[in-house]
Amino acid sequence: MLINAFIKLSERFPSFRRWAWQRWYQHIAKYHQTEWSFMNYGFLPDDGSTMLQLDPADEPDRHCIQLYEAVVSGVDLSGKDVLEVGSGRGGGASFIAHYHSPATVHGVDFSSKAVKLCRQRHHASRLHFHHGYAESLPFDDDQFGVVINVESSHCYASADKFFSEARRVLKPGGYFLFADFRAVEEIDLLNRQLEISGFETIDVSDITANVVSAMKADSQRKQLLIQTHVGSWLSGTFGQFAGLAGTPVYESFVAGDMVYLRYCLRNSQV
Ligand SMILES: C[S@@+](CC[C@H](N)C(=O)[O-])C[C@H]1O[C@@H](n2cnc3c(N)ncnc32)[C@H](O)[C@@H]1O
Repeated sequence: MLINAFIKLSERFPSFRRWAWQRWYQHIAKYHQTEWSFMNYGFLPDDGSTMLQLDPADEPDRHCIQLYEAVVSGVDLSGKDVLEVGSGRGGGASFIAHYHSPATVHGVDFSSKAVKLCRQRHHASRLHFHHGYAESLPFDDDQFGVVINVESSHCYASADKFFSEARRVLKPGGYFLFADFRAVEEIDLLNRQLEISGFETIDVSDITANVVSAMKADSQRKQLLIQTHVGSWLSGTFGQFAGLAGTPVYESFVAGDMVYLRYCLRNSQV
């Protein structure tokens, strides 16, 4: 009932959507500080193989990390200035900094409390976290070689403004590596928004099946985290947020009502 009301209000009033998501991410950064560094549904390769050699300490987050690896695959990040928009609890930006040899990684997020957590938890000389909004990025024109955006844009008040901002802060020739889900009927709009933003499309893939496999494979671990750290009155909400197998969001992917896409785009302006 409450969820339906939230969806209806979000569809009608994008600024309500942004406000509600911001409250939610502030809440979990305040009350759940140490339990997890990633907040995405994950990725499992088609053949179920492990696509990455990880440090043992990173193994529990393998599925979430693999989503980042799938998003950046094919683009060499070494020596580049990388921006992650919607960096959450910093696990992805930290992974890029430690495994992909960039010059710098900057994470930006609208949850000031999540940014504070990131600054406390992730330490590397080339890793920086900032408070800011995807729709008005606090960075100069042509500042970055790569902009990454993982499972965040569905919260934004305006995807158009974000795409235009991503293009503004990218150097000519820079890459915009973007992955998120949409209801199937919203995919045409998303593709139009990307087309209007002026990016050149290098590659697009539907990774829904890979995401669903990861959601299934990671369900038990996430369920245990929720049982251990979240009060029973909020455990259902967290289960939905985490996309546990059997939740409505999981079933929407399985039924094909929601689609998860990965884009590699280029700022081809000269
Ligand atoms: C599902 S989480 C994903 C976090 C991270 N990318 C990951 O995969 O672990 C979405 C993130 O986007 C951030 N976010 C949502 N709307 C935003 C906006 N308008 N501007 C900046 N960050 C935003 C949220 O605070 C949250 O940290």
